[in-house]
Amino acid sequence: MNTPYYLLHKELLDEGIEKLNQARKQYWPNSIVGYSFKTNSLPWVVSYMKKQGYYAEVVSEDEYHLAEYLGYDQIIYNGPVKGQESFLRACRAGQIVNLDAEREIRWLEEAAVDGKPINVGVRVNFDLESMCPGEASGGEEGGRFGFSYETGAFAEVLERLGKIRGVKVTGIHLHCSSKTRSLNIYKAIAEMACRIRREYQLELSYVDAGGGYFGGLASKPQYADYLREMSEILKREFDPEHTILIVEPGTSLICPPIDYVTSVTDIKQTNRNYFVVTDGSRIHVDPLMAKKSYFYHLECQDETRPTAERQVISGFTCMENDRLFELKGYSALQEGDRIIYEKVGAYTMCLAPLFIGYYPPVYLEDQGKISCIREKWGVKEYTSQSVVEGNE
Ligand SMILES: Cc1ncc(COP(=O)(O)O)c(C=O)c1O
Repeated sequence: MNTPYYLLHKELLDEGIEKLNQARKQYWPNSIVGYSFKTNSLPWVVSYMKKQGYYAEVVSEDEYHLAEYLGYDQIIYNGPVKGQESFLRACRAGQIVNLDAEREIRWLEEAAVDGKPINVGVRVNFDLESMCPGEASGGEEGGRFGFSYETGAFAEVLERLGKIRGVKVTGIHLHCSSKTRSLNIYKAIAEMACRIRREYQLELSYVDAGGGYFGGLASKPQYADYLREMSEILKREFDPEHTILIVEPGTSLICPPIDYVTSVTDIKQTNRNYFVVTDGSRIHVDPLMAKKSYFYHLECQDETRPTAERQVISGFTCMENDRLFELKGYSALQEGDRIIYEKVGAYTMCLAPLFIGYYPPVYLEDQGKISCIREKWGVKEYTSQSVVEGNE
C-alpha cells in the first residue's frame, strides 16, 4: 500500500462503542447516541454508526442530506445554520430538531404548522465559564450557540414557541465545547438541565448533553464516569424511565481507532537544521495547525543506524510550517522508514484541505484483513464538478 494513507482499526472502534453502550446500560438505559457527523463523516464510518443503532447528529443541510442518502431515518438536527427546507421536513417527520436560531422560530410561525403536533428542542446557551472557570472553549468571551439563559433569550423563545399551535418544546440541548473535557463540564450541564426544568416547569422527553468526551485514553475520564456523574444529578429532576438522555460523541469514538501512515522520502541537512521529509503532512493530522504533540510510532528498517541528535520531521507540502515534531537522540531515519501517527480520526479527514495533494486513501483493518474504504482522490474526483474551459 502506497503511503500516505489512513488506517481504521475496527477492533478499536468496536471497543469504544462497547464501552459507551455498557455505560449507557449501567447509568441511563433510556438513552440515544447521536454520532457527530462533523467529527468524521467518512461514509463507511457514518454507515457503521447507523448499524449500531446510533442516530445521525448533523449540523447543516449537507450533513442532513448525507444522513438521508446513507439511509438514516433517525436524525438529530442541530446547529445555527440549518436549511429551511430540511428543517421543516425534519420537524414534520418527527426527527429530533434542536432550535438554535431566531429564524427557525419564524419558520415554524410562518409554516402555520396546521395544528399538527411538532416537537422541538431548544439549545441552551449558558455561562459555562462561570460554573467551570478556565474550562469553557469560549473562555471569557463565552459560547455563541443556543439561546442565552442568563439574558432571558431562552425564556423568550419558550414563550414564543408556546404561541404556535401544535408546537411543543420537549427537549433541551446543552452541548458545550470545553478545553478540558472534564467531568465538571458534564456536572454543570446536568445541573443546568435540572435548573431549567424546575424554573420553567418543562415536561421534557429528552435532555441532550451533546458530545465532547474523552475516549481511548486510560488516564482520562471514561464514558462510565461521565454518565455516572450526569445521572446522579439528572435524577434529582428527571425520571430516567420518562426522559431520554442523548449523548452526541464524535472525537471519543472516532479519534482512537484511526492511524495515518507516512513514509520518509528524503533527508536534508542544512547549516541550521536536519530535516526528515515525509510524504505525509500536518494538514492530514492537524489541519488547524494547533496541536503541540502527536501520538506516533516509528517503523525503521535499520535501528542500528547512528543516532541523530535532532531530526525535524516535515510534511510534503510547501508550507514551511508543515513540520510535525522533533525526534531527539534517535537513530537517523532514512528513506522508506515509516512514521505512523495514531489517534487521528477526529477533525482531520473532514477538515483537511485539497492542498497540493488530494485526499489520501482510507483502509480498514479488521482481524488482520485490510480493505479499502475510500480510494485515493485523483484529478478525476478533483475536477468532477468543474468546468474545464474548452471542453464541451
Ligand atoms: C452539537 C455538537 N454535538 C457533538 C459534538 C461532538 O463533539 P466531540 O467531537 O468533541 O465529541 C459537537 C462538536 O463540536 C457539537 O457541536
